[in-house]
Amino acid sequence: MKYKTQSVAYNHFVVALLLFVLQVIAGLWIGIQYVFPDFFYQVIDFNVMRTIHINLLIVWILIGFMGASYYLVVEESETEVWSPSLANIHLIGFVIGGVAAIVGYLFGITDGREFLEQPFIIKLAITVVVLAFVLNIIMTIVKGGKWTSVQIVLVMGLVGAALFFLPALGNHVGAYRNLSVDKYFWWWTVHLWVEGVWELIMGAMLSFLLLKLTGVDREVLEKWLYVIVGITFFSGILGIGHHYYWEGYPAYWLWIGGIFSAAEPFAFLGMTIYAFAMMEKAGRAHPNRAAIYFTLGCAIFAFLGAGVWGVMHTLPQINRYTHGSQITASHGHLAFFGAYAMINLAMMAYAIPAMKGTDGFNKRTALTAFWLMVIGMSDMTLALFGAGVVQAFMERYNHMPFMVVQDQMWLFYAIRLAGGVIFAVGVLFFVKAFFQGGVKRAG
Ligand code: HEM
Ligand code: HEM
Ligand SMILES: [Fe+2]
Repeated sequence: MKYKTQSVAYNHFVVALLLFVLQVIAGLWIGIQYVFPDFFYQVIDFNVMRTIHINLLIVWILIGFMGASYYLVVEESETEVWSPSLANIHLIGFVIGGVAAIVGYLFGITDGREFLEQPFIIKLAITVVVLAFVLNIIMTIVKGGKWTSVQIVLVMGLVGAALFFLPALGNHVGAYRNLSVDKYFWWWTVHLWVEGVWELIMGAMLSFLLLKLTGVDREVLEKWLYVIVGITFFSGILGIGHHYYWEGYPAYWLWIGGIFSAAEPFAFLGMTIYAFAMMEKAGRAHPNRAAIYFTLGCAIFAFLGAGVWGVMHTLPQINRYTHGSQITASHGHLAFFGAYAMINLAMMAYAIPAMKGTDGFNKRTALTAFWLMVIGMSDMTLALFGAGVVQAFMERYNHMPFMVVQDQMWLFYAIRLAGGVIFAVGVLFFVKAFFQGGVKRAG
Protein backbone atom coordinates (compact mmCIF):
# COMPACT_ATOMS: atom_id res chain seq x y z
CA MET A 1 0.00 0.00 0.00
CA LYS A 2 1.46 3.34 -1.04
CA TYR A 3 -0.38 5.27 1.67
CA LYS A 4 -0.53 3.47 5.01
CA THR A 5 -3.51 5.38 6.32
CA GLN A 6 -5.75 4.18 3.50
CA SER A 7 -6.29 1.26 5.85
CA VAL A 8 -9.03 3.39 7.45
CA ALA A 9 -10.86 3.14 4.12
CA TYR A 10 -10.51 -0.62 4.27
CA ASN A 11 -11.98 -0.75 7.78
CA HIS A 12 -14.96 1.30 6.67
CA PHE A 13 -15.54 -0.91 3.64
CA VAL A 14 -15.53 -4.08 5.74
CA VAL A 15 -18.13 -2.66 8.11
CA ALA A 16 -20.22 -1.30 5.23
CA LEU A 17 -20.26 -4.67 3.51
CA LEU A 18 -21.25 -6.50 6.69
CA LEU A 19 -24.16 -4.09 7.21
CA PHE A 20 -25.15 -4.51 3.54
CA VAL A 21 -25.47 -8.26 4.12
CA LEU A 22 -27.62 -7.63 7.21
CA GLN A 23 -29.75 -5.12 5.29
CA VAL A 24 -30.48 -7.71 2.63
CA ILE A 25 -31.34 -10.35 5.24
CA ALA A 26 -33.81 -7.89 6.77
CA GLY A 27 -35.16 -7.24 3.24
CA LEU A 28 -35.71 -10.97 2.68
CA TRP A 29 -37.47 -11.17 6.05
CA ILE A 30 -40.09 -8.55 5.17
CA GLY A 31 -40.22 -9.84 1.58
CA ILE A 32 -41.24 -13.22 3.04
CA GLN A 33 -43.82 -11.54 5.30
CA TYR A 34 -45.43 -9.99 2.23
CA VAL A 35 -45.93 -13.49 0.79
CA PHE A 36 -46.55 -15.42 4.04
CA PRO A 37 -47.88 -12.85 6.54
CA ASP A 38 -47.64 -15.29 9.48
CA PHE A 39 -43.85 -15.52 9.17
CA PHE A 40 -42.53 -14.68 12.68
CA TYR A 41 -45.78 -12.80 13.38
CA GLN A 42 -45.57 -11.09 16.77
CA VAL A 43 -41.94 -12.17 17.13
CA ILE A 44 -40.34 -9.61 14.87
CA ASP A 45 -43.13 -7.84 13.01
CA PHE A 46 -43.02 -6.24 9.58
CA ASN A 47 -42.85 -2.65 10.84
CA VAL A 48 -39.85 -3.43 13.04
CA MET A 49 -37.87 -5.31 10.43
CA ARG A 50 -38.75 -2.70 7.80
CA THR A 51 -37.27 0.01 10.02
CA ILE A 52 -34.14 -2.10 10.46
CA HIS A 53 -33.94 -2.76 6.69
CA ILE A 54 -33.95 0.90 5.70
CA ASN A 55 -31.79 2.09 8.62
CA LEU A 56 -29.12 -0.44 7.75
CA LEU A 57 -29.37 0.77 4.17
CA ILE A 58 -28.65 4.38 5.08
CA VAL A 59 -25.92 3.49 7.56
CA TRP A 60 -23.98 1.13 5.27
CA ILE A 61 -24.18 3.61 2.40
CA LEU A 62 -22.90 6.41 4.65
CA ILE A 63 -20.09 4.27 6.07
CA GLY A 64 -19.21 3.21 2.52
CA PHE A 65 -19.13 6.88 1.48
CA MET A 66 -16.80 7.60 4.38
CA GLY A 67 -14.40 4.82 3.43
CA ALA A 68 -14.50 5.77 -0.23
CA SER A 69 -13.91 9.44 0.66
CA TYR A 70 -10.83 8.59 2.71
CA TYR A 71 -9.48 6.50 -0.13
CA LEU A 72 -10.24 9.23 -2.66
CA VAL A 73 -8.80 12.24 -0.85
CA VAL A 74 -5.57 10.42 -0.07
CA GLU A 75 -5.14 9.59 -3.76
CA GLU A 76 -6.13 13.05 -4.96
CA SER A 77 -4.13 14.92 -2.32
CA GLU A 78 -1.20 12.52 -2.42
CA THR A 79 -0.89 12.68 1.34
CA GLU A 80 -1.78 10.53 4.35
CA VAL A 81 -5.10 10.93 6.22
CA TRP A 82 -4.89 13.88 8.65
CA SER A 83 -5.91 11.78 11.67
CA PRO A 84 -6.32 8.04 11.09
CA SER A 85 -7.18 7.47 14.75
CA LEU A 86 -10.04 9.98 14.54
CA ALA A 87 -11.30 8.04 11.50
CA ASN A 88 -11.27 4.75 13.36
CA ILE A 89 -12.86 6.33 16.43
CA HIS A 90 -15.75 7.82 14.48
CA LEU A 91 -16.25 4.50 12.71
CA ILE A 92 -16.55 2.74 16.06
CA GLY A 93 -18.85 5.51 17.29
CA PHE A 94 -21.11 5.06 14.28
CA VAL A 95 -21.26 1.29 14.74
CA ILE A 96 -22.14 1.61 18.45
CA GLY A 97 -24.85 4.18 17.63
CA GLY A 98 -26.23 1.95 14.89
CA VAL A 99 -26.33 -1.18 17.04
CA ALA A 100 -27.99 0.75 19.87
CA ALA A 101 -30.64 2.06 17.46
CA ILE A 102 -31.41 -1.41 16.11
CA VAL A 103 -31.62 -3.04 19.53
CA GLY A 104 -33.95 -0.18 20.45
CA TYR A 105 -36.20 -0.90 17.44
CA LEU A 106 -36.46 -4.54 18.50
CA PHE A 107 -37.80 -3.31 21.85
CA GLY A 108 -40.17 -0.86 20.25
CA ILE A 109 -38.10 2.28 20.89
CA THR A 110 -38.58 4.40 17.79
CA ASP A 111 -39.26 7.98 16.97
CA GLY A 112 -41.34 7.13 13.89
CA ARG A 113 -40.61 9.24 10.79
CA GLU A 114 -39.33 6.77 8.21
CA PHE A 115 -35.54 6.67 7.78
CA LEU A 116 -35.10 9.00 10.77
CA GLU A 117 -36.48 6.71 13.50
CA GLN A 118 -33.37 7.01 15.70
CA PRO A 119 -33.94 8.43 19.22
CA PHE A 120 -32.65 11.97 19.82
CA ILE A 121 -29.50 10.90 21.65
CA ILE A 122 -28.45 8.67 18.77
CA LYS A 123 -29.14 11.44 16.27
CA LEU A 124 -26.85 13.69 18.30
CA ALA A 125 -24.17 11.00 18.27
CA ILE A 126 -24.53 10.67 14.48
CA THR A 127 -24.11 14.45 14.17
CA VAL A 128 -20.85 14.32 16.12
CA VAL A 129 -19.59 11.35 14.07
CA VAL A 130 -20.35 13.11 10.79
CA LEU A 131 -18.72 16.36 11.90
CA ALA A 132 -15.57 14.48 12.96
CA PHE A 133 -15.50 12.75 9.60
CA VAL A 134 -16.02 15.93 7.56
CA LEU A 135 -13.33 17.69 9.60
CA ASN A 136 -10.88 14.85 8.96
CA ILE A 137 -11.55 14.91 5.22
CA ILE A 138 -11.20 18.68 4.94
CA MET A 139 -8.01 18.71 7.03
CA THR A 140 -6.51 15.99 4.86
CA ILE A 141 -7.19 18.05 1.73
CA VAL A 142 -5.85 21.20 3.40
CA LYS A 143 -2.72 19.28 4.40
CA GLY A 144 -2.22 18.08 0.82
CA GLY A 145 -2.95 21.57 -0.51
CA LYS A 146 -4.60 20.38 -3.74
CA TRP A 147 -8.19 21.45 -4.19
CA THR A 148 -8.96 19.43 -7.32
CA SER A 149 -12.48 19.72 -8.78
CA VAL A 150 -13.21 16.18 -7.68
CA GLN A 151 -12.33 17.07 -4.08
CA ILE A 152 -14.26 20.35 -4.17
CA VAL A 153 -17.44 18.62 -5.37
CA LEU A 154 -16.95 15.80 -2.87
CA VAL A 155 -16.61 18.25 0.02
CA MET A 156 -19.67 20.19 -1.17
CA GLY A 157 -21.60 16.93 -1.07
CA LEU A 158 -20.32 15.86 2.34
CA VAL A 159 -20.82 19.25 4.00
CA GLY A 160 -24.27 19.42 2.41
CA ALA A 161 -25.14 15.98 3.76
CA ALA A 162 -24.14 17.06 7.27
CA LEU A 163 -26.09 20.32 6.93
CA PHE A 164 -29.30 18.70 5.71
CA PHE A 165 -29.24 16.21 8.56
CA LEU A 166 -29.88 19.08 10.99
CA PRO A 167 -33.61 19.52 10.17
CA ALA A 168 -34.02 15.91 11.35
CA LEU A 169 -33.26 17.12 14.87
CA GLY A 170 -36.05 19.70 14.79
CA ASN A 171 -38.96 17.57 15.92
CA HIS A 172 -37.05 16.49 19.03
CA VAL A 173 -36.82 20.07 20.23
CA GLY A 174 -40.43 20.84 19.44
CA ALA A 175 -39.66 23.02 16.41
CA TYR A 176 -42.49 21.65 14.27
CA ARG A 177 -45.98 22.54 15.43
CA ASN A 178 -47.90 20.00 13.36
CA LEU A 179 -47.43 17.00 11.09
CA SER A 180 -47.45 19.07 7.90
CA VAL A 181 -44.58 21.25 9.11
CA ASP A 182 -42.79 18.18 10.41
CA LYS A 183 -43.03 16.42 7.04
CA TYR A 184 -42.03 19.59 5.22
CA PHE A 185 -38.62 19.52 6.92
CA TRP A 186 -38.39 15.73 6.96
CA TRP A 187 -38.05 15.94 3.17
CA TRP A 188 -35.18 18.41 3.54
CA THR A 189 -33.13 15.49 4.78
CA VAL A 190 -34.69 12.68 2.78
CA HIS A 191 -35.10 14.38 -0.60
CA LEU A 192 -32.21 16.85 -0.51
CA TRP A 193 -29.86 14.01 0.34
CA VAL A 194 -30.67 11.59 -2.47
CA GLU A 195 -31.61 14.15 -5.11
CA GLY A 196 -29.10 16.82 -4.12
CA VAL A 197 -25.98 16.48 -2.04
CA TRP A 198 -25.52 12.71 -2.37
CA GLU A 199 -25.67 13.19 -6.12
CA LEU A 200 -22.61 15.44 -5.78
CA ILE A 201 -20.82 12.76 -3.76
CA MET A 202 -21.70 10.24 -6.45
CA GLY A 203 -20.60 12.61 -9.24
CA ALA A 204 -17.25 13.19 -7.55
CA MET A 205 -16.66 9.47 -7.03
CA LEU A 206 -17.72 8.64 -10.58
CA SER A 207 -15.26 11.23 -11.88
CA PHE A 208 -12.52 9.82 -9.69
CA LEU A 209 -13.16 6.29 -10.98
CA LEU A 210 -13.21 7.48 -14.59
CA LEU A 211 -9.92 9.31 -14.06
CA LYS A 212 -8.34 6.18 -12.66
CA LEU A 213 -9.90 3.68 -15.05
CA THR A 214 -9.61 5.59 -18.31
CA GLY A 215 -6.75 8.00 -17.79
CA VAL A 216 -8.61 10.68 -19.77
CA ASP A 217 -7.78 14.33 -19.47
CA ARG A 218 -8.72 15.89 -16.13
CA GLU A 219 -9.83 19.10 -17.84
CA VAL A 220 -12.44 17.38 -20.01
CA LEU A 221 -13.73 15.52 -16.99
CA GLU A 222 -13.99 18.64 -14.86
CA LYS A 223 -16.14 20.46 -17.40
CA TRP A 224 -18.65 17.61 -17.37
CA LEU A 225 -18.60 17.42 -13.60
CA TYR A 226 -19.53 21.09 -13.24
CA VAL A 227 -22.32 20.83 -15.80
CA ILE A 228 -23.76 17.92 -13.82
CA VAL A 229 -23.45 19.82 -10.54
CA GLY A 230 -25.27 22.74 -12.17
CA ILE A 231 -28.18 20.61 -13.41
CA THR A 232 -28.41 18.87 -10.03
CA PHE A 233 -28.83 22.15 -8.17
CA PHE A 234 -31.16 23.65 -10.75
CA SER A 235 -33.56 20.71 -10.77
CA GLY A 236 -33.08 18.95 -7.43
CA ILE A 237 -33.66 21.77 -4.95
CA LEU A 238 -37.08 22.89 -6.16
CA GLY A 239 -37.74 19.32 -7.31
CA ILE A 240 -38.51 18.72 -3.62
CA GLY A 241 -41.95 20.00 -4.56
CA HIS A 242 -42.84 16.52 -5.90
CA HIS A 243 -43.25 15.54 -2.23
CA TYR A 244 -45.33 18.59 -1.39
CA TYR A 245 -48.40 17.75 -3.45
CA TRP A 246 -50.69 16.17 -0.85
CA GLU A 247 -49.32 17.17 2.53
CA GLY A 248 -51.13 20.42 3.19
CA TYR A 249 -48.99 23.03 1.43
CA PRO A 250 -49.97 25.75 -1.08
CA ALA A 251 -51.10 24.55 -4.52
CA TYR A 252 -48.21 26.24 -6.35
CA TRP A 253 -46.08 23.26 -5.32
CA LEU A 254 -47.98 21.19 -7.88
CA TRP A 255 -46.45 23.34 -10.61
CA ILE A 256 -43.03 23.86 -9.10
CA GLY A 257 -42.60 20.22 -8.09
CA GLY A 258 -43.82 18.90 -11.43
CA ILE A 259 -41.68 21.16 -13.60
CA PHE A 260 -38.40 21.09 -11.69
CA SER A 261 -38.44 17.43 -10.76
CA ALA A 262 -39.18 16.52 -14.39
CA ALA A 263 -35.78 18.08 -15.18
CA GLU A 264 -33.94 15.92 -12.62
CA PRO A 265 -33.31 12.95 -14.93
CA PHE A 266 -30.99 15.13 -17.04
CA ALA A 267 -28.40 15.21 -14.25
CA PHE A 268 -28.40 11.40 -14.14
CA LEU A 269 -28.46 11.14 -17.93
CA GLY A 270 -25.47 13.49 -17.99
CA MET A 271 -23.56 11.09 -15.75
CA THR A 272 -24.43 8.11 -17.99
CA ILE A 273 -23.25 9.84 -21.15
CA TYR A 274 -20.18 11.13 -19.35
CA ALA A 275 -19.17 7.67 -18.12
CA PHE A 276 -19.66 5.97 -21.47
CA ALA A 277 -17.97 8.77 -23.44
CA MET A 278 -14.87 8.61 -21.23
CA MET A 279 -14.79 4.81 -21.31
CA GLU A 280 -15.14 4.85 -25.11
CA LYS A 281 -12.26 7.30 -25.43
CA ALA A 282 -9.98 5.12 -23.37
CA GLY A 283 -10.91 1.91 -25.14
CA ARG A 284 -11.78 0.17 -21.85
CA ALA A 285 -8.21 -1.00 -21.49
CA HIS A 286 -7.89 -1.03 -17.70
CA PRO A 287 -7.28 -4.54 -16.30
CA ASN A 288 -9.75 -4.10 -13.43
CA ARG A 289 -12.85 -5.34 -15.25
CA ALA A 290 -15.05 -5.52 -12.16
CA ALA A 291 -14.44 -1.86 -11.36
CA ILE A 292 -15.40 -0.95 -14.94
CA TYR A 293 -18.58 -3.03 -14.75
CA PHE A 294 -19.70 -1.51 -11.46
CA THR A 295 -18.83 2.01 -12.62
CA LEU A 296 -20.79 1.69 -15.86
CA GLY A 297 -23.50 -0.25 -14.02
CA CYS A 298 -23.87 2.67 -11.64
CA ALA A 299 -24.10 5.13 -14.53
CA ILE A 300 -26.86 3.08 -16.20
CA PHE A 301 -28.90 2.01 -13.19
CA ALA A 302 -28.80 5.40 -11.50
CA PHE A 303 -30.37 6.85 -14.62
CA LEU A 304 -32.94 4.06 -14.90
CA GLY A 305 -33.82 3.93 -11.20
CA ALA A 306 -33.73 7.60 -10.31
CA GLY A 307 -34.27 9.21 -13.72
CA VAL A 308 -36.72 6.98 -15.55
CA TRP A 309 -38.43 5.26 -12.59
CA GLY A 310 -38.56 8.63 -10.82
CA VAL A 311 -39.96 10.79 -13.60
CA MET A 312 -42.63 8.19 -14.25
CA HIS A 313 -44.63 9.21 -11.16
CA THR A 314 -43.34 12.72 -10.57
CA LEU A 315 -46.12 14.73 -12.24
CA PRO A 316 -49.02 15.48 -9.91
CA GLN A 317 -51.53 14.16 -12.47
CA ILE A 318 -49.94 10.71 -12.12
CA ASN A 319 -48.66 10.90 -8.55
CA ARG A 320 -52.26 11.40 -7.45
CA TYR A 321 -52.83 7.70 -8.24
CA THR A 322 -49.43 6.24 -7.41
CA HIS A 323 -48.48 8.14 -4.23
CA GLY A 324 -47.24 5.74 -1.55
CA SER A 325 -48.01 2.68 -3.67
CA GLN A 326 -45.76 -0.18 -4.78
CA ILE A 327 -44.69 2.09 -7.66
CA THR A 328 -42.90 4.15 -5.01
CA ALA A 329 -41.21 1.06 -3.57
CA SER A 330 -40.23 -0.08 -7.07
CA HIS A 331 -38.55 3.27 -7.71
CA GLY A 332 -37.03 3.47 -4.22
CA HIS A 333 -35.27 0.12 -4.67
CA LEU A 334 -33.90 0.65 -8.17
CA ALA A 335 -32.77 4.22 -7.44
CA PHE A 336 -31.00 3.42 -4.17
CA PHE A 337 -29.39 0.35 -5.66
CA GLY A 338 -28.45 1.88 -9.01
CA ALA A 339 -27.03 5.09 -7.63
CA TYR A 340 -25.76 4.66 -4.11
CA ALA A 341 -25.22 0.94 -3.64
CA MET A 342 -23.52 0.69 -7.03
CA ILE A 343 -21.20 3.67 -6.55
CA ASN A 344 -20.07 2.19 -3.24
CA LEU A 345 -19.51 -1.23 -4.80
CA ALA A 346 -17.62 0.40 -7.68
CA MET A 347 -15.34 2.25 -5.26
CA MET A 348 -14.68 -1.00 -3.37
CA ALA A 349 -14.04 -2.91 -6.60
CA TYR A 350 -11.46 -0.30 -7.54
CA ALA A 351 -9.90 0.48 -4.17
CA ILE A 352 -9.51 -2.97 -2.60
CA PRO A 353 -7.33 -4.45 -5.38
CA ALA A 354 -5.43 -1.16 -5.70
CA MET A 355 -4.66 -1.22 -1.97
CA LYS A 356 -3.61 -4.85 -2.10
CA GLY A 357 -1.45 -4.32 -5.16
CA THR A 358 -3.46 -6.66 -7.38
CA ASP A 359 -4.97 -6.00 -10.82
CA GLY A 360 -8.57 -6.49 -9.84
CA PHE A 361 -11.08 -8.74 -8.09
CA ASN A 362 -11.30 -12.31 -9.34
CA LYS A 363 -13.19 -11.63 -12.55
CA ARG A 364 -15.48 -14.63 -12.41
CA THR A 365 -16.57 -14.09 -8.82
CA ALA A 366 -17.01 -10.33 -9.18
CA LEU A 367 -18.90 -10.43 -12.47
CA THR A 368 -21.14 -13.21 -11.14
CA ALA A 369 -21.89 -10.88 -8.21
CA PHE A 370 -22.59 -8.04 -10.63
CA TRP A 371 -25.01 -9.96 -12.85
CA LEU A 372 -26.86 -11.68 -9.99
CA MET A 373 -27.42 -8.33 -8.30
CA VAL A 374 -28.50 -6.68 -11.55
CA ILE A 375 -30.86 -9.53 -12.47
CA GLY A 376 -32.24 -9.85 -8.94
CA MET A 377 -32.88 -6.12 -8.61
CA SER A 378 -34.43 -5.89 -12.09
CA ASP A 379 -36.79 -8.72 -11.16
CA MET A 380 -37.72 -6.97 -7.90
CA THR A 381 -38.25 -3.64 -9.65
CA LEU A 382 -40.44 -5.05 -12.40
CA ALA A 383 -42.49 -7.19 -9.99
CA LEU A 384 -43.16 -4.19 -7.76
CA PHE A 385 -43.98 -2.12 -10.82
CA GLY A 386 -46.57 -4.72 -11.84
CA ALA A 387 -47.98 -4.71 -8.31
CA GLY A 388 -48.08 -0.92 -8.38
CA VAL A 389 -50.02 -0.77 -11.63
CA VAL A 390 -52.62 -3.18 -10.24
CA GLN A 391 -52.78 -1.11 -7.05
CA ALA A 392 -53.15 2.21 -8.86
CA PHE A 393 -56.00 0.96 -11.01
CA MET A 394 -57.94 -1.19 -8.54
CA GLU A 395 -57.41 0.68 -5.29
CA ARG A 396 -56.84 4.27 -6.36
CA TYR A 397 -58.89 4.53 -9.54
CA ASN A 398 -61.65 2.02 -8.89
CA HIS A 399 -61.71 2.57 -5.11
CA MET A 400 -61.61 -1.10 -4.21
CA PRO A 401 -60.73 -1.88 -0.56
CA PHE A 402 -57.03 -1.97 0.32
CA MET A 403 -56.83 -5.59 1.45
CA VAL A 404 -58.95 -6.90 -1.41
CA VAL A 405 -56.47 -5.37 -3.81
CA GLN A 406 -53.47 -6.62 -1.82
CA ASP A 407 -54.81 -10.15 -2.33
CA GLN A 408 -54.67 -9.60 -6.07
CA MET A 409 -51.01 -8.65 -5.84
CA TRP A 410 -49.75 -11.85 -4.18
CA LEU A 411 -48.12 -13.26 -7.30
CA PHE A 412 -46.11 -10.08 -7.82
CA TYR A 413 -44.88 -10.23 -4.23
CA ALA A 414 -43.82 -13.86 -4.74
CA ILE A 415 -41.88 -12.88 -7.87
CA ARG A 416 -40.26 -10.02 -5.94
CA LEU A 417 -39.16 -12.45 -3.27
CA ALA A 418 -37.54 -14.70 -5.88
CA GLY A 419 -35.64 -11.66 -7.19
CA GLY A 420 -34.58 -10.87 -3.64
CA VAL A 421 -33.09 -14.34 -3.21
CA ILE A 422 -31.11 -13.97 -6.46
CA PHE A 423 -29.94 -10.55 -5.30
CA ALA A 424 -28.84 -11.92 -1.93
CA VAL A 425 -26.74 -14.62 -3.59
CA GLY A 426 -25.11 -11.89 -5.68
CA VAL A 427 -24.21 -9.99 -2.53
CA LEU A 428 -22.52 -13.11 -1.13
CA PHE A 429 -20.45 -13.42 -4.30
CA PHE A 430 -19.38 -9.79 -3.86
CA VAL A 431 -18.33 -10.51 -0.28
CA LYS A 432 -16.28 -13.46 -1.54
CA ALA A 433 -14.56 -11.32 -4.19
CA PHE A 434 -13.89 -8.63 -1.59
CA PHE A 435 -12.14 -10.95 0.87
CA GLN A 436 -10.19 -12.72 -1.85
CA GLY A 437 -8.78 -9.23 -2.34
CA GLY A 438 -7.86 -9.61 -5.96
CA VAL A 439 -5.64 -11.39 -8.40
CA LYS A 440 -2.65 -10.48 -10.50
CA ARG A 441 -3.10 -10.86 -14.21
CA ALA A 442 -1.30 -13.89 -15.54
CA GLY A 443 1.99 -13.13 -17.32
C1 HEM B 1 -30.75 8.35 -6.58
C2 HEM B 1 -31.75 9.15 -6.46
C3 HEM B 1 -33.05 8.81 -5.86
C4 HEM B 1 -33.32 7.96 -4.81
C5 HEM B 1 -32.34 7.15 -3.98
C6 HEM B 1 -34.75 8.00 -4.61
C7 HEM B 1 -35.42 7.30 -3.62
C8 HEM B 1 -36.76 7.47 -3.29
C9 HEM B 1 -37.43 6.85 -2.17
C10 HEM B 1 -36.81 5.88 -1.16
C11 HEM B 1 -38.70 7.31 -2.15
C12 HEM B 1 -39.80 6.94 -1.15
C13 HEM B 1 -39.81 7.94 -0.06
C14 HEM B 1 -40.91 7.66 0.94
O1 HEM B 1 -42.05 8.12 0.74
O2 HEM B 1 -40.64 6.96 1.90
C15 HEM B 1 -38.84 8.21 -3.28
C16 HEM B 1 -40.00 8.90 -3.61
C17 HEM B 1 -40.17 9.60 -4.78
N1 HEM B 1 -39.22 9.83 -5.76
FE1 HEM B 1 -37.28 9.29 -5.67
N2 HEM B 1 -35.33 8.84 -5.53
C18 HEM B 1 -34.32 9.35 -6.31
C19 HEM B 1 -34.46 10.21 -7.38
C20 HEM B 1 -35.67 10.63 -7.91
C21 HEM B 1 -35.84 11.43 -9.09
C22 HEM B 1 -34.71 11.93 -9.98
C23 HEM B 1 -37.19 11.63 -9.25
C24 HEM B 1 -37.94 12.37 -10.33
C25 HEM B 1 -37.55 12.55 -11.53
C26 HEM B 1 -37.85 10.98 -8.15
C27 HEM B 1 -39.20 10.98 -7.92
C28 HEM B 1 -39.82 10.54 -6.77
C29 HEM B 1 -41.21 10.78 -6.43
C30 HEM B 1 -42.23 11.54 -7.26
C31 HEM B 1 -41.43 10.20 -5.19
C32 HEM B 1 -42.72 10.21 -4.35
C33 HEM B 1 -43.50 8.98 -4.60
C34 HEM B 1 -44.81 9.00 -3.86
O3 HEM B 1 -45.54 9.99 -3.99
O4 HEM B 1 -45.12 8.03 -3.16
N3 HEM B 1 -36.91 10.37 -7.35
N4 HEM B 1 -37.65 8.28 -3.96
C1 HEM C 1 -33.26 -9.19 -0.75
C2 HEM C 1 -33.58 -8.10 -1.30
C3 HEM C 1 -34.61 -7.15 -0.77
C4 HEM C 1 -35.91 -7.36 -0.42
C5 HEM C 1 -36.67 -8.68 -0.49
C6 HEM C 1 -36.46 -6.10 0.00
C7 HEM C 1 -37.75 -5.92 0.47
C8 HEM C 1 -38.28 -4.75 0.93
C9 HEM C 1 -39.60 -4.58 1.48
C10 HEM C 1 -40.64 -5.69 1.61
C11 HEM C 1 -39.75 -3.29 1.84
C12 HEM C 1 -40.97 -2.64 2.49
C13 HEM C 1 -41.88 -2.08 1.47
C14 HEM C 1 -43.16 -1.58 2.08
O1 HEM C 1 -43.13 -0.84 3.06
O2 HEM C 1 -44.22 -1.96 1.59
C15 HEM C 1 -38.53 -2.61 1.50
C16 HEM C 1 -38.31 -1.26 1.65
C17 HEM C 1 -37.19 -0.60 1.15
N1 HEM C 1 -36.04 -1.21 0.66
FE1 HEM C 1 -35.76 -3.18 0.31
N2 HEM C 1 -35.51 -5.14 -0.10
C18 HEM C 1 -34.36 -5.74 -0.57
C19 HEM C 1 -33.16 -5.12 -0.84
C20 HEM C 1 -32.99 -3.76 -0.86
C21 HEM C 1 -31.83 -3.09 -1.39
C22 HEM C 1 -30.60 -3.78 -1.96
C23 HEM C 1 -32.07 -1.75 -1.27
C24 HEM C 1 -31.23 -0.58 -1.67
C25 HEM C 1 -30.06 -0.61 -2.18
C26 HEM C 1 -33.38 -1.59 -0.66
C27 HEM C 1 -33.97 -0.38 -0.38
C28 HEM C 1 -35.21 -0.21 0.21
C29 HEM C 1 -35.84 1.07 0.42
C30 HEM C 1 -35.26 2.43 0.04
C31 HEM C 1 -37.08 0.83 1.02
C32 HEM C 1 -38.12 1.88 1.39
C33 HEM C 1 -38.96 2.02 0.14
C34 HEM C 1 -40.09 3.01 0.19
O3 HEM C 1 -40.34 3.65 1.19
O4 HEM C 1 -40.75 3.15 -0.86
N3 HEM C 1 -33.90 -2.82 -0.41
N4 HEM C 1 -37.64 -3.53 0.96
FE1 LIG D 1 -37.63 13.44 -4.21
